[in-house]
Amino acid sequence: DTLSKVDMYLDSFCLSEEKLQKVSAQLRKDMIRGLGKHSHNKAPVKMLPTFVRATPDGTEKGDFLALDLGGTNFRVLHVRVVEEEQKVLKMDSQICAIPKEMMLGTGEQLFDHIAACLSDFLVSQDLKGQTLPLGFTFSFPCEQKEIDKSILIRWTKGFNCSGVEGEDVVKLLKEAIHRRGDFNIGSVAMVNDTVGTMMSCGYRDQSCEIGMIIGTGTNACYMEEMKNVKRVEGEDGRMCINTEWGGFGDDKSLRGIQTEFDLKVDETSINPGVHTFEKMISGMYLGEIVRLVLLKLTEEKLLFEGQISEALKTPERFETKFISEIEEPDSGLENTQRILTKLGLKWNEVDSRVVRLVCDTISSRSARLCGAALATIANHMRICRGLDHLKTTVGVDGTVYRKHPNFSEELKETVRSLASKCDITFLVSEDGSGKGAAMVTAVAQRLALQSR
Ligand code: BG6
Ligand code: GLC
Repeated sequence: DTLSKVDMYLDSFCLSEEKLQKVSAQLRKDMIRGLGKHSHNKAPVKMLPTFVRATPDGTEKGDFLALDLGGTNFRVLHVRVVEEEQKVLKMDSQICAIPKEMMLGTGEQLFDHIAACLSDFLVSQDLKGQTLPLGFTFSFPCEQKEIDKSILIRWTKGFNCSGVEGEDVVKLLKEAIHRRGDFNIGSVAMVNDTVGTMMSCGYRDQSCEIGMIIGTGTNACYMEEMKNVKRVEGEDGRMCINTEWGGFGDDKSLRGIQTEFDLKVDETSINPGVHTFEKMISGMYLGEIVRLVLLKLTEEKLLFEGQISEALKTPERFETKFISEIEEPDSGLENTQRILTKLGLKWNEVDSRVVRLVCDTISSRSARLCGAALATIANHMRICRGLDHLKTTVGVDGTVYRKHPNFSEELKETVRSLASKCDITFLVSEDGSGKGAAMVTAVAQRLALQSR
């Protein structure tokens, strides 16, 4: 019957625990390879040093600006940190839209826009005359030379501005501010969003040593032993490593679990061959995978009596947020039917159940793959620290993790089974990574003052 034929198509998305274990073993190998002295340019999992060595010690204080670029929203923030309470006293922020054309335009246009948003914000906050330090959450893979020198390796997700890859992002920002000439900024600290998230959660829970994002893209960072970080001098203490796990599989190591739909999503993306793992997991791609499966099932006459609508044929029309709505435990079926109608499809009861099954299968795979990757990091930390048992906290952010009804549960279950010797607490970031970026700036400033 229909359902068993549908199952045949969905089977390739179902990953047994054994397969997940293989994925995890491969990722561990790639992490170790990425940490090596010379291999990072070719390594699929880049393992980038972040120059974040310390979490806040409570003596930081002052006013900071923060930028948060690369997720769903571009934000400008003003963060005030007070010493005594070791608490962020005040935070104001403003969302500033980035038009889609700008994401594919020139770097100069992009940075001019960022500088303009910052200028408007300073006026609205009455801060224009001041020279404040700035934390820049820039959620793309960067080769950091120092906390304030950060070279974009390549764009990921929806961005592809010319003239930025290979350049120092801090320099591009400063040049744009200089072109305007109407305000100044102080020292800059560059952080990936995973790092910003870890730092802002580290504020509430001192044992937060991992940051994870499952949103537009996916990635994680964690505190690594310095002696394992071969590209930075020094053996003592720890440094936060931005894994860029989204690039896992870019050397085709995941070919065995990619489906024909994953290959299609990659082929039609703006960056084929790049970020294989991310394309199986994150919000930018999940809706598209579902759409392609629905299209296939319709062509096979297993859905909608074989009638395809224009909307279903249109790339990106099936939004990732639909998946969350469709899988909602109570209102799910009703939501499904509303969404299908909106997409111009003629559905019956069985169709709506099949669509729900497709969404469930694809989001489950995403959660389980993320769980396997997180388990890999936790196991790695436990082994490197010579512990029988590791207890740690993960700071998490991203719309997929936040909004999907059972994504987090499924992820946690996978981590429990693949990292049984680790006890992991999950902490959802409260107000984004901007606060964390400001904290990194504050710590950097404190260290600079101390070494003067
Ligand atoms: C936000 C963080 O809360 O989450 C960003 O402040 C991050 O730095 C984002 O990039 C990730 O989620 P999404 O779903 O917006 O990509
Ligand atoms: C992409 C970026 C990475 C970021 C992640 C989550 O994978 O390359 O830097 O952390 O998206 O936003």
